[in-house]
Amino acid sequence: MKNNSKILEDKCIGLIFEKYSTRTRISFNVGIAKLGGTPIDINFDDLNIKRNESFQDTFKALNCYLDGLIYRTSDHKNLEEASQYFNKPIINALSDLSHPCQIISDLFTLKEQFGSLDLNILWVGDLNNVSFSFCEAAEIIEEFKFTICSHEQILEATNFKKFKNTSFISTLNNLNLEIYDCIMTDVYVSMNDKNFQNKEDLLSKYQVNAEIMNKTKDDCVFMHCLPANVGSEVTEDVLNSNKSIVWKQAQNRMVAQNKLLQCIDW
Ligand code: CP
Ligand code: NVA
Repeated sequence: MKNNSKILEDKCIGLIFEKYSTRTRISFNVGIAKLGGTPIDINFDDLNIKRNESFQDTFKALNCYLDGLIYRTSDHKNLEEASQYFNKPIINALSDLSHPCQIISDLFTLKEQFGSLDLNILWVGDLNNVSFSFCEAAEIIEEFKFTICSHEQILEATNFKKFKNTSFISTLNNLNLEIYDCIMTDVYVSMNDKNFQNKEDLLSKYQVNAEIMNKTKDDCVFMHCLPANVGSEVTEDVLNSNKSIVWKQAQNRMVAQNKLLQCIDW
């Protein structure tokens, strides 16, 4: 039986990032190395897929050599299609639909902060991949209450209403913010998000600023997966305030992901 800390010894894990990444890319690279494995950074632009080799044959080729994949894609269908040809574990490192690694890690951070997940969490802003994964988590873990505050028009344009354990509200006006343990947000416009021309305008009333955070209780925390568009969805004073635990979140990405890597049957 292998020492759990070197669980990836002799394993080569490929990393494909079709979109920008700092935290996910580096935390997985370092995490895999710390667990004794070899991370292989794969640049799509250097592969024969750029000379018209098919997606199918590309992933069949990767399957010949790698023991697993970490994959960030603009199109969630790519993740599903890749799993037809690459028959070893693939971890979703963010897609247009979801960002499960972020939420596994954020729930770990919240548990570390409060000692339990019996919490009231308010998401403010866009309905995106990160909030989608939070809604998915709320379906599985009934311990916390998850509320989303966003623009009606954005809610109508998404399939978020299917989530039964998430509540939706459309305005921060007259909201009793004292009941929340955590206020969370993310950028108004995600990478490659072309769904709305005017999202910045639609969401301008959903900025998390000092006026909002001052209405929360003393031990309420502010969270953001980062990178932040400072001055847009969050103000600098909130991001750097005593209530902000964004760097604890960033730090915990590797801690939570290493646990995830140890749970997989490679
Ligand atoms: N939060 C997050 O996934 O950050 P990166 O885009 O930098 O990986
Ligand atoms: N919602 C953001 C998250 C980045 C980590 C995006 O997809 O751009």
